[in-house]
Amino acid sequence: MYNLSVLSQHDIEGVVCLLRSDLDVPLVDGAIDDETRLIASLPTIEYLLLNRASIVICGHLGRPASFIQNPLELPSSQEDFVELSLLPVAQWFAQKLRFRIKKGRKNGFFGWEIGGDMFLLENIRFYKGETENDANFAQLLASLAHIYINDAFAVSHRSHASIVGVTHYIPHVAGFRLATEVRFLEGVLSDPKRPLVVVMGGKKIETKLPLLRAMARMADYVLVGGKVSQEAERILVEDANGIHKDHIFLADQNKDKTDITKESVRRFIAIIKTARMIIWNGSMGIIQPSATSRQQSEREDTERGTREIANAIAKSRAFTLVGGGDTVEYLNRLKIADRFSFVSTGGGAMLALLSGEKLPGLEVLAT
Ligand code: 3PG
Repeated sequence: MYNLSVLSQHDIEGVVCLLRSDLDVPLVDGAIDDETRLIASLPTIEYLLLNRASIVICGHLGRPASFIQNPLELPSSQEDFVELSLLPVAQWFAQKLRFRIKKGRKNGFFGWEIGGDMFLLENIRFYKGETENDANFAQLLASLAHIYINDAFAVSHRSHASIVGVTHYIPHVAGFRLATEVRFLEGVLSDPKRPLVVVMGGKKIETKLPLLRAMARMADYVLVGGKVSQEAERILVEDANGIHKDHIFLADQNKDKTDITKESVRRFIAIIKTARMIIWNGSMGIIQPSATSRQQSEREDTERGTREIANAIAKSRAFTLVGGGDTVEYLNRLKIADRFSFVSTGGGAMLALLSGEKLPGLEVLAT
C-alpha cells in the first residue's frame, strides 16, 4: 500500500506547480480521438486554478524516435515533432477552460501559454533526458516550479525524469486522479473476487510480457490475445519452471495474425462468463482509430475478437475493470465504457500495480 502525500494537504496559493499529467491521447490526423485522459486531468487543474496557483503542465505523447539534442532548442519540422506535438492538447485545454492560447517559452522550454496562469510544455519525450531519467534534465524541469504534482498514473510505472528524477529536487505530491486510481486499484488488489479473470492483449509486448508471470500467480485465468500472445508462447517454453502455466490461456491467431480465431473468442467468452472479477487491458487484434475505421468500413474486420470480448465483459455481472488509452478509446467507440465498474487511465501501469509490481513513480511519492 502506498501512503501518498496528496495535493489537498498543501497550501498552494501563489505557488508555481509543475504538474505531470496523462496527455498521451490517441490522435487521428492531428485530431484527438479520445478525450478520456484529458477529462481525467481536469479536477486537479481546476483545483489549482481555483486556489490561485500557477501551473506548468508537462506530459508526453507517443514514443518519438527523434530527439531535440539541446534541451532548450526549438523542435524542428521533422515528422515526429509535428505528428507528436502537444499542440492539439494545448488547444483542447484552451477551449475547455475558455482561455486564450499563445505559443511561448518558459525558462527556455517551448510550449503554450493558456490563459494567465497555465503553461503547457511541448511533448516532454522530445527531450532524450526524459526517458533516460537524466539528472540534469530533471533538475531543469524542477527549476520551473516550487512544487511537483504527479497526476499521471498511466506513466507511473516508468522511471522517467518527469516522473521520478524531478522529485529529487522539489517537494512532491500526488494529484487527485493519481490518488483515486491508486486507492481504488489497491482496494481491488486487497480483496479480489474469484474466479478472477485477467484479459491481456495489445501491442506493448515489452511492457506486458514481464507481467504475465505475476498475473498468472494472482489470477485464476489469464487470457492472452493480441501481439502479446504471439510472444508469450516463447516465454512459457523458456520459463517452464515457476510460472503458473495452467492459469494462462493463449489465443490462436488467424492466418494474417490480425485477430484471434473464432474458436479462441468462444473459449475466452466461456471463461469470462464464469468470472466474478475481470481485469482487461489491450485489444485482441488490430483495432483502427475511430476516424480511420469510419473512412474504411470495407477493410477486413480485424476487430471482431476485441468487439466480442468487449461485449461479453460489458454484459458480465462480474466486477469489471478496464484500462489503457487504446482499449478505452475502443469502448467509447462502442459506447459501452459506462458499463464497466471502473475505467483506469493506465494500461501497463494498471496491470503493473495489480500484479503487485512496485511502480517507481509511486515509490517516490510515498511518505
Ligand atoms: C500509456 O499509454 O500506457 C502511457 O501513456 C505510457 O506510455 P508508454 O508505454 O509509451 O510509456
